[in-house]
Amino acid sequence: MKEVDSQLFRSTLGRFCTGVVVAAGCLDGEPVGFTAQSFVSLSLDPPLVGLCPAKISTSWPKIRDSGHFCINILSVDQQSICDVFARSGGDKFAGLAWQPGVTGSPMLSGILAYVDCELEAEHDAGDHTIAVGRVRDLAVIGDGGPLLFLQGMYGSFN
Ligand SMILES: Cc1cc2nc3c(=O)[nH]c(=O)nc-3n(C[C@H](O)[C@H](O)[C@H](O)COP(=O)(O)O)c2cc1C
Repeated sequence: MKEVDSQLFRSTLGRFCTGVVVAAGCLDGEPVGFTAQSFVSLSLDPPLVGLCPAKISTSWPKIRDSGHFCINILSVDQQSICDVFARSGGDKFAGLAWQPGVTGSPMLSGILAYVDCELEAEHDAGDHTIAVGRVRDLAVIGDGGPLLFLQGMYGSFN
């Protein structure tokens, strides 16, 4: 079997349109988080979701240690928040409004919906891992549309 070209991998998988989330946790009172598109619904009974953190993520080890994470599903008008959380380092929460969810993980203001989870399992997956979260609380709190991501660009349904 031939080796898969990384450019081809990127451009092909880039055709898969997703929403955008900020996966956030709180360790020793410090809120941390990162932008992700690798969020998926896994199971209804029990309620499980999946997220794939890169092994180079600096926020994920702290989120893992906290044992919980909140998936913040971004609204169409939150691209600036997406950009902030897609950078590594610095205080990404400076000047941002948020409140702790039932697990203590940060819920950002202005989001479309949240899914607050307990970390149930983590599986190795190449340069990423697959984190499985057991849903402890969730709700739709915004009335706009989701921020979409396709081929390196952001968009909306409108
Ligand atoms: C639209 C978009 C989707 C992303 N999806 C993921 C993802 O699913 N998993 C991941 O680990 N990083 C993803 N990233 C990259 C991280 O947000 C980025 O590496 C960030 O700097 C990590 O921050 P950290 O070092 O604080 O963890 C994505 C970035 C963007 C802009």
